[in-house]
Amino acid sequence: MTHDLFHGRTYDDFLFRPQKGRVRSRGGVRLAGLFARGIPLELPLVSANMDSVTEAPMARVLALEGGIGVIHRAMSIEDQAREVERVKRSHGWVVESPLTLPRDATVREAREATRRHGVTGILIEESRGGGVLEGILSKRDMPWEGNRDAEPVSKFMTPFAHLHTRPPGVSLEEAERVLFEHRIEKLPLVDDSRKIRGLITKSDIMLSRERPDSTKDAKGRLSVAAAIGARGDFLERAEALLHAGADALVVDIAHGHSEVMEEAVRALKPHVRDVPLVCGNVGTAEGAAFLRDLGASAVKVGIGPGLGCRTRLETAAGVPQLQAVHEAWRALQGSLPIIADGGARHDKDIFLALACGASSVMLGSLLSGTDEAPGRVIEDPAGHEKRKIYRGMTSPQAVFEALYDDRDPDEGERALATPAEGQEIQVPYRGSVRDVLHRVRGHLRSAVSYAGEDSLEAVRASVLADPERFLIPLSAASRRESYER
Ligand code: XMP
Repeated sequence: MTHDLFHGRTYDDFLFRPQKGRVRSRGGVRLAGLFARGIPLELPLVSANMDSVTEAPMARVLALEGGIGVIHRAMSIEDQAREVERVKRSHGWVVESPLTLPRDATVREAREATRRHGVTGILIEESRGGGVLEGILSKRDMPWEGNRDAEPVSKFMTPFAHLHTRPPGVSLEEAERVLFEHRIEKLPLVDDSRKIRGLITKSDIMLSRERPDSTKDAKGRLSVAAAIGARGDFLERAEALLHAGADALVVDIAHGHSEVMEEAVRALKPHVRDVPLVCGNVGTAEGAAFLRDLGASAVKVGIGPGLGCRTRLETAAGVPQLQAVHEAWRALQGSLPIIADGGARHDKDIFLALACGASSVMLGSLLSGTDEAPGRVIEDPAGHEKRKIYRGMTSPQAVFEALYDDRDPDEGERALATPAEGQEIQVPYRGSVRDVLHRVRGHLRSAVSYAGEDSLEAVRASVLADPERFLIPLSAASRRESYER
C-alpha cells in the first residue's frame, strides 16, 4: 500500500519543488480543511488532547482562529464536561441560559449580578426559577442614586408588554432585523407560555460578524471536540460531553487498530447519534481502512512521532509520519478526513502533511508553552529563561497525576501497569497562542504560493495525483544545506 516515494520517509526527508506562482496577494490564499464530516475548518489546525495543551482557553482561541481544540480526558467527567461548556458559552449569537432575577429582587442584587457576570442586562422573571419572562432590566435602567438599592427591580424594568420577543429557533437574519428596526440591544426568546428560552444581543451578533472564519456550530457558538477512551467510564463520559455540547468526540487510544477500538465504537455508535466520532491513532493503510469500516467520521494518524512520545524507542512500533499520512490517504481516497497527529516540529511539516493527504494537523508541542496551554510559567533562576512544561500523556508525571489527583484513577491504574511511553520536557514560554497561529497561517499561505496554487485544497489535489512532480527526496548533504542553521 505504501507509495515508493514515501516508504520510510517523513517531513525532513523532502523539499517541495517550487512552481510558477499565481497569487498576487498571499492574504487571498485559502487554507480551508476539514476536521471531521460536518466540521470544516478555515485554518486546518487542531490542538492536541493533552493535559499540557488543551483545556477551554486553548480550545476557545483555536475555534476563534478557524481551527478546533480537543479537550483532554485526564480529569473527572464533570471537569471535562465543564471545560466543554466553557467553550460553548464563551461566544455565540444565542445565549442559551441568560441571567435571570425575579421581579422582587433588589436593585442591589441586580447591580452585583451584572458586575459578577460581566453582562449589561438581566431578564426579569415572574418568580424565582419559574422562567416566565416579566421584563428586562438593563444597566441603563438602574437608578444612579445608591439610596434606591433596596427597591425591587420591577419598578425600573421595561415590562413584558413593551418588549420585542421572538420564539426560539429564530433565524439570525430575523433577529438582526428586529434589533435594528426597533433600535434595541436585546431580543429575548420565549415560547408560547412566555417561558425564557434564550437571549440574542446585538453585541454578540456583531462579534460573530467580525470573526467570519471562526469554527462555529449552527447556533453560532464556538465548536469544540473532546477526547474519550475506549474502556472504563467511556460511555458515561461520552454522554456527559455530548450533553455539555461537544461538537465531536475523539476516541483516542494509543493503538487504534485494535479489538478494543472495535468494541468501543460499537458501544458508542447508538449514543453519539449524528455527532462525529473521530477515531485513532493508526499508522497504516490497514488501520485507516479498519476505522473507516467501523464507521469513524475521521481518522487520526500517528504512531509515535510526537515530541512527548517514546513509543518507537521503547517498542519499535511506528510508521514515519509522512508515510503514515500518505498510506492512510491511499486507503481512504478522500472518503474520510485524515488528521495528521504528532511530529510537526516546523511549520513546513504542517504544509507537507496537508499536501500529502491530511485534512487537518493536530499539534501538541508547537502550541505548548503558550499562555492558553494549561500549567504555570516557570523561570529558570540562573538564565532567567521562562518555560512551561510539555509532556506526553503516558509520561510518568501525567500518569501519576491522573492517579493521585483524583482525576481518573481507573485510567491511571491501567496506565501505570504499563511502563511509560511518554516523557516530560520543558519548552520555552511563547506568549499567546494567537501569535503562533498567526505565524503558521502566514507560512502556510507562503507555502501554497510557492506551490503555484491559490488554495491548500488545490495543492493537495496536484500532489496526490503525481507526488514525484512535487516532492524532492533529500540526501544527507541537501538536508544539512536545508535545515542546519
Ligand atoms: P507533537 O509532536 O505535536 O505530538 O507534540 C502531539 C501528539 O503526541 C501524541 N502523544 C503521545 N504519544 N505517548 C505517545 O506515544 C505519549 O505519552 C503521548 N502523549 C501525546 C498524541 O498523539 C499527541 O496528539
